[in-house]
Amino acid sequence: MRHRHSDYMEWAKTQSRAKFNLATSGVGAFPLRQLPVGIEQLEINGESAYGYAPLQRAIARKCTVDQDCVVAAAGTSMANHLAMAALIDPGDEVLIEHPTYELLTSTALYLGASVKQFARTEASGYTLDPAEVRRAITPRTKLIVLTNLHNPSSVLAPEPVLREVGDLACSVGAHVLVDEVYLDAVYENTPGSSYHLGREFIATNSLTKVYGLSGLRCGWILAQPDLARAMWRLNDLFSSIPAYPAELLSVVALEHLDSIRERACKVVQADRALLGDFLNCQTGISAPRTQWGTTAILHLKHGDVEQFLSRLRAEYETSAVPGRFFGLRSYFRIGMGVDTEMFSEGLQRIGRALKAT
Ligand SMILES: Cc1ncc(COP(=O)(O)O)c(C=O)c1O
Repeated sequence: MRHRHSDYMEWAKTQSRAKFNLATSGVGAFPLRQLPVGIEQLEINGESAYGYAPLQRAIARKCTVDQDCVVAAAGTSMANHLAMAALIDPGDEVLIEHPTYELLTSTALYLGASVKQFARTEASGYTLDPAEVRRAITPRTKLIVLTNLHNPSSVLAPEPVLREVGDLACSVGAHVLVDEVYLDAVYENTPGSSYHLGREFIATNSLTKVYGLSGLRCGWILAQPDLARAMWRLNDLFSSIPAYPAELLSVVALEHLDSIRERACKVVQADRALLGDFLNCQTGISAPRTQWGTTAILHLKHGDVEQFLSRLRAEYETSAVPGRFFGLRSYFRIGMGVDTEMFSEGLQRIGRALKAT
């Protein structure tokens, strides 16, 4: 039976909200009124076929690639779907990191892939370990899929490690798909896209998580031109053309990305400092300390996570993402970067709920 749904997405859309919502993954929403654009600059219909030229240029400039490598897509979600759909035939073997963002696995399964996992373990600080990829890869592997920064842990994979994974992929003629939707949350010496590391790499990204611009659905894929063309053609089967006003707004946003990111960075950093203090005084929780990113995965050392999260919601009005969505039973994920007051109160409530266990 073909896999036709995402349990995580349904939960996120219907169950994740709470007064103290730590079940987030990206920064807070950037308000339209702060974008320097007037209604007279907008239009409903315009010239967009295989990409809106000014948007193609703006994304290419941001990523320092040629425009014919850029495929615009509705968020990283559609970018991932298109990239996988262009590369995978039913029955193909796909290696996906574990734990990972559930939609990556669900999409590969929907496309009929035979999914195998390679481990990023808590013991190793969730690092991307080429030895684990080597252990899992076979001559049948068509695609290796990972996130960088890693969702849920926010751990950064360094370039030499990515190169090693790329070499492994090349040894069996596979591609590497890197979801980079959190990568720009590395606020200093932000790494370039892994697309630049070799022809085997395909990267996806959007303005959602690090910029608070989810509603624009401004996502993209970076792929070699022949593959990019195939993805554009495939997209005709899914969504024809994007919403033109969103394309216009995305061009404006891309002109002001640095200041948009700066605003959110302050919140993320304040939240991370609070998380550090919180972890220092909790004995019932462990988590890797990360320098960047908007999510953290916490290990509940004792007790049942589902019961803990139900109690946290019912008695403390606080939500977090159950680890089961990442294949981690005694864990939960929390998000930074929305509102420091809310985050601080949410952490305190987690602390009180732990004490009352
Ligand atoms: C790793 C990862 N990729 C993609 C997405 C979805 O991104 P977008 O909103 O750009 O579709 C998410 C959202 O949580 C994510 O965590």
